[in-house]
Amino acid sequence: MRSQVVIIGSGPSGLLLGQLLHQAGIDALILERQSRAHVLSRIRAGVLEQGTQDLLDQAGVGARMHREGLVHDGFAIDFARSHNRIDVKGLTGGRTVRVYGQTEVTRDLMDARAAAGLRTIYEAKDVTLQGFDGAAPRVTFRQDGVTHEVACSVIAGCDGFHGASRASVPSGAITTFERVYPFGWLGVLADVPPCSHELIYANSERGFALCSMRSASRSRYYVQCSTEDTVDHWSDDRFWDELRLRLDPKVAAHVTTGASIEKSIAPLRSFVAEPLRFGRLFLVGDAAHIVPPTGAKGLNLATSDVRYLSEALIAYFNEGSLAALDTYSPRALARIWKAVRFSWWMTTLLHRFPQSTPFEQKIQDADLAYLMSSTAAMTSLAENYAGLPH
Ligand code: APR
Ligand code: PHB
Repeated sequence: MRSQVVIIGSGPSGLLLGQLLHQAGIDALILERQSRAHVLSRIRAGVLEQGTQDLLDQAGVGARMHREGLVHDGFAIDFARSHNRIDVKGLTGGRTVRVYGQTEVTRDLMDARAAAGLRTIYEAKDVTLQGFDGAAPRVTFRQDGVTHEVACSVIAGCDGFHGASRASVPSGAITTFERVYPFGWLGVLADVPPCSHELIYANSERGFALCSMRSASRSRYYVQCSTEDTVDHWSDDRFWDELRLRLDPKVAAHVTTGASIEKSIAPLRSFVAEPLRFGRLFLVGDAAHIVPPTGAKGLNLATSDVRYLSEALIAYFNEGSLAALDTYSPRALARIWKAVRFSWWMTTLLHRFPQSTPFEQKIQDADLAYLMSSTAAMTSLAENYAGLPH
């Protein structure tokens, strides 16, 4: 087999890259370890910056997002019994975000790919990357017990944090930066109306909580939990009780409880690998970086990577410009580190750290009080939340 590009992973990064390359007449084969149904069962944050919406529109997959996604002009930060609205639209000169589940983004991209008759090989096992330090890379994989080989010009590693792409880079060629946070997020999805029409991030003495949504009738809630916790410790009743205890009583009174349709625990981590290019292999999205979910930057950051890499690959395939490929890593990393900083800052501001000293707690209290008293500080938060330019 031969394809100009082999994309490893059919999450949002791989699918969006495939779509943009297809529009430019570049052939890309996607290899995915899991089944389509498994990929669509993952529930992840769904707050889309304008730049993300624009790229989805450019890729021709924005129609349902515009119909069903909810435009949000702001959100709230609750702490010490106070409710504080961050007027993102007012503070940023009219910018908003759109709440639309990442699962739906993935579904729209998969549908567009299928409609265009493009190839995705699901349940591709033992994906192995070879020869990307030279001019003729190859990717091998196993399907139904048979080993296949694909020759290509470029490999795009869009296979997430645990994928094969980053793992195939020689350890001396890559530098990684990491912070693991001493807590996780327990998330519940339920078919109940949201307690508020905007998101609420709450810092309570019992720990962080987040009220989010997927639609007017589907809610997504989270509570900070211990890294040792498992979902079997959390009955639905225990979850709803704990959530309400962490919210302002007036907000808690509006929480409609119901049976969970998904419940999972995610660890929180910040991670960046540098560089993002190794010869003819390029790392994209979660394969290259992870942010904690506070602020919902993961998908938005993957999207700016995809924009930069698609532009570089189009220049390379259309004009033969090898120099264009050199721009990807520095361009993407400049934006990545700003989003890593913002996600770290929001996480640090809003969670209770088990080992924090009384001094550190006072600093967090002061950070929150300062934020709410300063238009300059709130504008910085709003600007980052709405999304830094691509
Ligand atoms: N071979 C083939 N596919 C693989 C392999 C492998 N060895 N390892 C992982 N994959 C697949 C996974 O099954 C998954 O479908 O790669 C895909 C990676 O998708 P994501 O983890 O969703 O990563 P990405 O597309 O970069 O999306 C970034 O998703 O995780 C969120 O917060 C993150 O919002 C961000 C967005
Ligand atoms: C979500 O809706 O899942 C969500 C929203 C905002 C976040 C994180 C997750 O910051």
